[in-house]
Amino acid sequence: MSIIAVGSAKASPGVTSLSVGLGFLWESTTGRQAVLIEADSDGGVLAARFGLSLAPSLVEFSGAIRHEVTIDRLQRNSQLLAGQLPALVAPGCGETTSLVLGSISKQLVDGLDHLKEIDLVIDIGRVRPYSPTTDLVRRCDLVILVVRPHFDQLVPLVHQARRMIAQNIPTALVCVGDRPYPPTEMAKAAQVDLLGVMAYEPRVVQVLSGGFPSNRRHRRLLLWRTLNELVHRINYRLQNSVNTRIAA
Ligand SMILES: Nc1ncnc2c1ncn2[C@@H]1O[C@H](COP(=O)(O)OP(=O)(O)O)[C@@H](O)[C@H]1O
Ligand SMILES: [Mg+2]
Repeated sequence: MSIIAVGSAKASPGVTSLSVGLGFLWESTTGRQAVLIEADSDGGVLAARFGLSLAPSLVEFSGAIRHEVTIDRLQRNSQLLAGQLPALVAPGCGETTSLVLGSISKQLVDGLDHLKEIDLVIDIGRVRPYSPTTDLVRRCDLVILVVRPHFDQLVPLVHQARRMIAQNIPTALVCVGDRPYPPTEMAKAAQVDLLGVMAYEPRVVQVLSGGFPSNRRHRRLLLWRTLNELVHRINYRLQNSVNTRIAA
């Protein structure tokens, strides 16, 4: 299994949108099923944004896994986003979400062996030093830092990337849009690999609400093409790190 966390150093650059987009395209590229977990300690937006129910959520999941984590319990507490992507949503309230994330994070880490058949895409929101998801983030195969390529986001990014690298957490960068500051320069300054760019698309929520289109013409939208490219690069990177570990 692979665990990919998506987070930001500052502001609201598009972490949730990227997480949802990656989730939609995950299975067609990797051949493995993904479950999206909304683990943003500021509270969730998925239910409200994509017309899902308030429950089941992390709250019910936390109760269900008190004794043991199982795929069945994860799936039963997830809701289908756009009829395609199983998503475990967070309550809208940040305090409640932080409370449940504290216990869920530890239980997930202890129970990862039970989730081998699936991959997790975890929306961790803003990355903070004492976040309730810290233990889980340390177990991730890849943490993707999302940033808008603006000069004022550079310093927070550089500091966050340094913190991740100091903890030996594999970290890479995705930029939302490619202007005005060159994404390659952002990555160079932060000393992390640039996975690529998610296209700047003002209708991103509307587009994602419909799920990954079955219609070929609609798939040609730059947003889908860039998301597809990103999933390929992430998958390639994950495969390579597995091979390197095996070789070592
Ligand atoms: N690729 C994108 N292009 C343009 N706007 C985007 C994109 N991704 C997100 N946004 C916008 O940025 C805002 C925050 O998006 P969201 O995905 O919730 O980010 P975060 O999880 O970092 O807070 C929303 O208004 C959303 O429409
Ligand atoms: Mg978010």
